[in-house]
Amino acid sequence: MKKIMFVCLGNICRSPMAEFIMKDLVNRAGRADSFQIASAAVSSEALGCPMDSRTVATLRAHRIPYENRRAQKLTEAMGDEYDLLIGMDEGNLARMRHIVRKEDLPKLHLLNEYSGIPHTIADPWYTGDFETAFKEIRKGCRGLLDGLV
Ligand code: 4NP
Repeated sequence: MKKIMFVCLGNICRSPMAEFIMKDLVNRAGRADSFQIASAAVSSEALGCPMDSRTVATLRAHRIPYENRRAQKLTEAMGDEYDLLIGMDEGNLARMRHIVRKEDLPKLHLLNEYSGIPHTIADPWYTGDFETAFKEIRKGCRGLLDGLV
C-alpha cells in the first residue's frame, strides 16, 4: 500500500485536483487497492470549505470523478502515516517542513519533480487559470504513477 498526500495552500484548488486525478489514474490502471490518496492544506484559510467551484468545473470538464469533500489541514500525524507528501509550490513545501516531524522530511516533494516541468504549479485561486493547473497537475500525477511501477 502506497499512501500519497497532496498538499497546497488552501486545499480547495490544486491538491484536491491532484487527489482526484491520481485516484482516477490508479483506478484506470486497476491499482486502486494499492493506494491511499488524500489531500490537505498548509493554511487554515479555507478549512471546512468545499472545493472551489472552478476546481469542480475543471474536473467535470475532464470527466474526472470526484466526491464532495471539505478542506482539511495537514497534521504531523499525516506526515507519519503517509509515504509521500507532495506540495504544489515552494511556499507549500516550506510550511510542510514546519508541520511534519524531522524524520518525515525525506517524504516531502514537489509535484513538478515528477512532470519534468521546470516550474511549480501556479495557484489558480490567484491566476484564474484552472486549465493550466489541471494539465500540469495531471502530468505530475502521470509521472508519479509511472515511477511507482
Ligand atoms: P489552493 O488555492 O492552495 O490551490 O487550494 C487557494 C485556495 C484558497 C486560498 C488560497 C489558495 N485562500 O487563501 O483561501
